[in-house]
Amino acid sequence: MSDEERLKRTEAALDELDDVVILGHNYQRHSVTRHADHLGDSLQLSRLAGEADARNVVFCGVTFMAETADIVTDDDQRVVMPSMEASCPMAGMAENIQVDGAWNELTEVVPGEDVTPVTYVNSYASLKAFTAEHGGTCCTSSNASDAFDWALDQGEKVFFTPDKYLGHNTLHELGYGDDDFVIWDPWEDELGGNTPDEVRDATFILWEGFCQVHERFGASDVADVRDAHPDVNVIVHPECRREVVETADYTGSTSTIIEKVENAPEGSKWAIGTEIHLTKRLARQNPDKDVFGLCGEECSDCNAMRQIDPDFLVYVLEEMRDGNIVNRIQVDEDEKRLAEKALDTMLSV
Ligand code: 13P
Ligand code: SF4
Repeated sequence: MSDEERLKRTEAALDELDDVVILGHNYQRHSVTRHADHLGDSLQLSRLAGEADARNVVFCGVTFMAETADIVTDDDQRVVMPSMEASCPMAGMAENIQVDGAWNELTEVVPGEDVTPVTYVNSYASLKAFTAEHGGTCCTSSNASDAFDWALDQGEKVFFTPDKYLGHNTLHELGYGDDDFVIWDPWEDELGGNTPDEVRDATFILWEGFCQVHERFGASDVADVRDAHPDVNVIVHPECRREVVETADYTGSTSTIIEKVENAPEGSKWAIGTEIHLTKRLARQNPDKDVFGLCGEECSDCNAMRQIDPDFLVYVLEEMRDGNIVNRIQVDEDEKRLAEKALDTMLSV
């Protein structure tokens, strides 16, 4: 479909739909976000979905985000996605069944009441439900250290899923070091590849999961960009490896990155260590600054976010206009109740 036709058909469908809100994640491409009523990070979008009075919420992001939107919206609201294929690989690295198995093994060597699960919101609803069942909380990339602090008030250990790098960066932020954690690799036969003593000695048990986009940034990218631009500011997402966060000037969630660049002085230079479509938008919206990616475009493109093709947006909107709700995301009722509890705990932490 040509861009002109796509634009025409999207707008024509929207003209006939008066009960729909389109939410777009910061990592979506321009041809999708130009139709969004709101843009934001995963948590902001879920809040906006909860506040929206539209019956239909079209969520342009990945499935775990749409699940969260379904959890926080009213029963009569419907959350749909342009494509059901947009699944975050990191969320898929910690399926509830694997984590549940790990929990059973773990609590054979340390008492369950000493361990509190903390689950990054970049996870499926079933894992959030598991978290609530075991007295834990969710967290985002901006409140992970508060969540860790809270968990350490509940017991001696934190069991963090699914992002080992966010976990590693957060424990350092709290003053802990590399002797204080173990990585739990679900592919290992016993105790995630650790001895019982290693597990007993660790304060943090970090799941072997990561974001394939943020993992690609290396300390050499930071060094190269500083060589080429000595006056550059490097800002990276906390899903990046520890050595990248350590050598960057600033670290923060997608909303922090946006805020920092938007409030920066004219003429300043920014190398951004996150998904490329956010970097491109920041460059477009801040022509008075020099904004570019910490590595090349191919290296920081999220193929899960990319599944939201603008042609699929046309498809769901035209179907909706014709009375058909396609690609609806519906979380199981029991899971929904528990997952909401883990999200509520996060908001109260
Ligand atoms: P935010 O929670 O900052 O929106 O990030 C989502 C994400 O997918 C990060 O890789
Ligand atoms: Fe998942 Fe990473 Fe893509 Fe975010 S950028 S949706 S964490 S794969």
